[in-house]
Amino acid sequence: MKTVLVSGGAGYIGSHVTVELIQSGYDVVVADNFSNCDRTCFNGVEKILDRKLPLEEIDFCDSKAADRLFATHKIDAVIHFAAFKAVGESVADPLKYYGNNLESFVNVIGAARKHGCSNILFSSSATVYGETDKLPVTEQSERQPATSPYGNTKQICEDILRDCVKAYEGIHGIALRYFNPIGAHPSALIGELPRGVPANLVPYITQTAIGKRECLSIFGNDYPTPDGTCLRDYIDIVDLARAHVAAVTRMVDSKMKADYEIFNVGTGKPVSVMELVTTFEKVNNLKLNYRIAPRRAVDVTAIWADTAVANSELGWKATRTLEETLASAWAWEKRLAGKE
Ligand code: UFG
Repeated sequence: MKTVLVSGGAGYIGSHVTVELIQSGYDVVVADNFSNCDRTCFNGVEKILDRKLPLEEIDFCDSKAADRLFATHKIDAVIHFAAFKAVGESVADPLKYYGNNLESFVNVIGAARKHGCSNILFSSSATVYGETDKLPVTEQSERQPATSPYGNTKQICEDILRDCVKAYEGIHGIALRYFNPIGAHPSALIGELPRGVPANLVPYITQTAIGKRECLSIFGNDYPTPDGTCLRDYIDIVDLARAHVAAVTRMVDSKMKADYEIFNVGTGKPVSVMELVTTFEKVNNLKLNYRIAPRRAVDVTAIWADTAVANSELGWKATRTLEETLASAWAWEKRLAGKE
């Protein structure tokens, strides 16, 4: 049985990936420093799987701790999620982002290399594409200059991985570029749990619907899109998690076609903010309090994925409908509020 280290494994994406890996026959070591999440999702994962999981409470900025972890467990592949992710905060405090996000990744690769773990998967983002007219974006689309330090750390980490793969014999890397991950596990035992006021659309919607927030602001309805609101590619969190299983399997089974590969993880379908709001209302049979607000700085007008490469090479495809996904997000919010 192969063992996968999931750094940041107690967070939103990491917890869903842990579930899918175990259900696909992998062993998982979860590592997290709980700096940006509590135990809710980790406990939820153990409940879904009905078993205890090895948990290493470490900060990957501590290189000695990273080294100890790899010395303690025999790791076949590592998926690196551990990072700060608030775009606005990264603009206000870039050193926090460059310090944490780059150093932790350098330490993970260093420790992996030292202990003979040759498979490294990095969680990247569609943010690396920036604003572009050529849609959908393919993995070959040129990356645009990052619009925030957070986005820049994603680009730099991709480059770090590419350079290490090139320089160090035997190291393989995959970067998965996520579009907009949303929704929750069908069990409603794990999901997105933002701290403070949510910066992202779907948690803001569910918190408004439950009464935690008064009113959703739709940032701009004067974009050059069919209904004037921005277009995004919303990918279900369980579908997204399964793409990781496919990518890890490709690495550990030595099926990669190059030592460093990049895949878009999206649905390939653009959805507008307004469409998402009305679908949420319809599928959950409720009315959302919303208003049109000015545009938000740094939002791109539209971005969605060309998924052909991920579909053919990973043998992976998004399967859940937007309706199912938005129902799962609402079920999770209700469970959190103790209403279900
Ligand atoms: N939006 C609203 N109201 C809100 C929140 C968002 O109208 O309260 C709109 C945004 O303007 C955007 C869409 O909903 O058009 C999606 O916004 P999100 O914040 O949910 O997602 P983004 O596309 O902005 O964010 C994604 C990733 C980030 C990444 C960012 C780069 O989630 O990790 O792209 O800009 F950094």
